[in-house]
Amino acid sequence: MVDKLDELLRRQVRRGDAESSGVQGGADAGRAPTPAAQSSGFQTGLSKARQAPQEPHSPLSGQLPPAPRDIESTGLSATYLADLILKHLYFENELKSIEIADRIGLPFGGVTEPLLTALKADRSVEIRGGESTMSYSWRYVLTGRGAERAKDALARSFYVGKAPVSMYDYYTMVAAQAVQPEVSVDQVRQAYSDLIVTEDLLKKIGPAVSSNKSIFMYGPPGNGKTSIAERIFRVLGGTLCIPHAVEVDGHVIKLYDPFYHLPVQDDEPQSLEARDRKLSRYDCRWNLSRRPFVVVGGELTLETLDLIWNDSARYYEAPFQLKSNGGILLIDDFGRQVIKPQDLLNRWIVPLEKGVDYLTLHTGKKFEVPFRQLVVFSTNLNPADLVDEAFLRRLRYKIEIPNPTPEQFVGIFHTVCRNKGIAYDEPTMVYLMQKYDQLNVDPRSCHPRDLLDIIIDEARFRGERAQLSPALIDLAWSSYFVTYK
Ligand SMILES: Nc1ncnc2c1ncn2[C@@H]1O[C@H](COP(=O)(O)OP(=O)(O)OP(=O)(O)O)[C@@H](O)[C@H]1O
Ligand SMILES: [Mg+2]
Repeated sequence: MVDKLDELLRRQVRRGDAESSGVQGGADAGRAPTPAAQSSGFQTGLSKARQAPQEPHSPLSGQLPPAPRDIESTGLSATYLADLILKHLYFENELKSIEIADRIGLPFGGVTEPLLTALKADRSVEIRGGESTMSYSWRYVLTGRGAERAKDALARSFYVGKAPVSMYDYYTMVAAQAVQPEVSVDQVRQAYSDLIVTEDLLKKIGPAVSSNKSIFMYGPPGNGKTSIAERIFRVLGGTLCIPHAVEVDGHVIKLYDPFYHLPVQDDEPQSLEARDRKLSRYDCRWNLSRRPFVVVGGELTLETLDLIWNDSARYYEAPFQLKSNGGILLIDDFGRQVIKPQDLLNRWIVPLEKGVDYLTLHTGKKFEVPFRQLVVFSTNLNPADLVDEAFLRRLRYKIEIPNPTPEQFVGIFHTVCRNKGIAYDEPTMVYLMQKYDQLNVDPRSCHPRDLLDIIIDEARFRGERAQLSPALIDLAWSSYFVTYK
């Protein structure tokens, strides 16, 4: 049946596009295209689209790559795409042909239409009617034969979503988007305006961020390492094209993760005509998303650095470093993970230096993926106990976040009072600073927030309005700090 379908697809595509040199299928089914095929596929797509008339469109959609004009330039085999359509139909009673195109993220004309015609000729699908003579409105259902084929395809992989892009296309896109950002002093100042930081720190952050390499942030706990790293995201901003999934060697790697890849609001076309126009113009296998900011803490293990194979679904989930490409990857509380810092070093020494990582399929096949993100390591442990000189040398920028100076501490206290609606009181502040001095305790940047929260809790409990006084500072202090002799 597969052979017959492939033959039909070949004929259909030849008829539909005289320029097309045929499609991959049969023996090629599900196999990753050769580098040459990948290359010509992607470039053909680009060059053809560049010649396309430029109609007015939403500026956001305009950032998506151009739609592939035919099956060949999707970089995927016709058999793979036909199976994906059957899987979509398997979970629906019926779908309009433009809805099918929408689900797989590919244009109706040139890609979905010839696939549906071939599937109909193969008696895998039937037309149930349509609202107009426009073929994109025709409604399709699976036949018994099509349902069997869909079940076979689902047994091989349960992935049902937008068609994947080839690894070549993904690689090319990441490289194109990984330009070093131009970061101005004003941008950095604006992004850190809600924190009390020195001018010196801002001057260090700017070049480190625009280097798009790696940052090692260290210092005592509670002084703002995580908060400072989080604001790098604000400095960079911007949007990226992220594919829903990537295909390697016939396997699907699901990459798009709505938790990290926050979608950019775009006008979703409502009418069938408008959806057809969007799909024929843009490659909707890609999603426009805010630059990803991925934070990994103690859960980091050596296994989670590789592809995650879901045995029942039979496709892969991308590891977080792949999801963070083009964005920021924060390894928070570095040194407190199950994985030893030295093991992480051994695993990432090449990726950090060369910008490429290697992942392994469960078949044992290794392949290269881009590793192009700003990696920020943050730790409150002593760097000398954590990593050796060789690792530190590979982390381009080292930024120490020390205890706040008395002036900074007072500034933070002031800000937190204002944010929490508590009147600032100078004598209480003086009392608090003396207390630090007498008890030989280092002030940390998180203390104002934490002490004031205790004062607020106390006031709520007493049914009073929160205010500052030395007595309340004593009370908060005794709850917050541990004194053990
Ligand atoms: N420079 C600052 N200006 C204003 N508030 C700050 C500053 N630094 C820290 N804070 C406050 O302290 C809290 C804790 O900071 P954060 O969690 O970023 O510290 P950290 O250095 O990452 O701590 P740890 O080492 O324990 O992970 C913040 O939520 C914020 O309220
Ligand atoms: Mg932290």
